Amino acid sequence: MNLKIKKILNKKNKTKIICLTSYSKNISEILDNYTDIILVGDSLGSVLYSFDTTKKVNLNMIIEHSKSVRLGVKKSLLVVDMPFNTYRNKKEALKNAKKIIKYSKADAVKLEGGKKIIKIIKHLKKNKINVMGHLGILPQSHKGKFRYKGRTSNERKNLLEDALLLQKNGAFSIVLECIETNLSKEITKALQIPTIGIGSSNNCDGQVLVTDDLIGLNLTSIKFVKSFCNIRKHIGLAVQKFCQDVKKRKYPSDKFSY
Ligand code: KIV
Repeated sequence: MNLKIKKILNKKNKTKIICLTSYSKNISEILDNYTDIILVGDSLGSVLYSFDTTKKVNLNMIIEHSKSVRLGVKKSLLVVDMPFNTYRNKKEALKNAKKIIKYSKADAVKLEGGKKIIKIIKHLKKNKINVMGHLGILPQSHKGKFRYKGRTSNERKNLLEDALLLQKNGAFSIVLECIETNLSKEITKALQIPTIGIGSSNNCDGQVLVTDDLIGLNLTSIKFVKSFCNIRKHIGLAVQKFCQDVKKRKYPSDKFSY
């Protein structure tokens, strides 16, 4: 078994698992000092490219960003999202997962869904590809208004069944996105593999956040997002100082000239 995955599995019921997104080398280098998992999420579509849906992210984009991220990752587990329409059947999924791993040297791929994609997950696992699951809000297939999951007893039953099925078929961990507090607790308790929450309370084994949200670079009003600093302000101040120095001919001084 991949040693980094083993380490993450061992954290269940002991210490929280830290997972953050990255789309580039420089950010990964910083994150890697603190994270257990770095995820090249297809959230890059909305965060970097302002797409209205993650469905517009394609295989080539995720591979190019993953190659950059890989350069900054040494100790964390590198997980890459499989984009929309890249895992519609077993053959397509295996071909594309292999391609992602070949170019990014990722440790694992992440796929959205439960029962519907279980044969695909089983097939990837059989072919030695490590898989992270993703349940709850599924941005690649989400339609209509944003609503957290686990509102009805049927939805709760299906989510728990999906989580158990993912575990049974080889997923090493599952992202739970926007799942009601008590249900995320129930799912986490029922599983031997770790759950990584986003908008799913502090009952999960780990927590993931989009780094651009965490640092206040991406402006969003999503309820579960907390910005831990205002990086926009710091960038603004640096640019302001640069402008002043250039206008006063203080920069570039002799020190910065040939
Ligand atoms: O695409 C992404 O960044 C994700 C996380 C938010 C879990 O899937």
